[in-house]
Amino acid sequence: MKIAVIQGPNLNMLGMREKHIYGSMTLDQIHAQLKGSADQNGIELEFFQSNLEGEIIDRIQECMGTVHGILINPAAYTHTSIAIADALKAVSLPTVEVHISNIYHREEFRQKSITASASTGVVTGFGPFGYHMGLIALTQIISEMFNAQQQQASAVPVEEENTTE
Ligand code: DQA
Repeated sequence: MKIAVIQGPNLNMLGMREKHIYGSMTLDQIHAQLKGSADQNGIELEFFQSNLEGEIIDRIQECMGTVHGILINPAAYTHTSIAIADALKAVSLPTVEVHISNIYHREEFRQKSITASASTGVVTGFGPFGYHMGLIALTQIISEMFNAQQQQASAVPVEEENTTE
């Protein structure tokens, strides 16, 4: 199973940035931990961070047909970007949105997520551990989808009743 981890603007500053809100772990440390647990479960992660909206959209578009799901923290674009929400809807992959802080417990302008409308679910407020929670949720969703597809493929077609006289 392959999952894209997409990180939005200023998340490259984690560890230095507003530590009282985001903690002291750097993005590299978060990714190393996440890779550790992904490796144990045979999951391949592709990491990407950008401060540019267009680059994030390009990366989301590249996910079509190349990964099974997306774990994304759109950061400030969460609250503004219809374009990122549209890109997520366009690729139509299982997607979990993660926020380190609890966006519903912060300034009013952060309490609305535009991108959440394009996500399967949202994890918010559990610090960097939220990425692990998101990954667990995402792998579960993808496995369920895969199992449902397998079942459908192996289902024996019901013989149509012969109605000829
Ligand atoms: C954030 C919350 C956003 O409001 C903020 O702009 C971020 C990080 C979070 O992870 O808590 O950059 O997405």
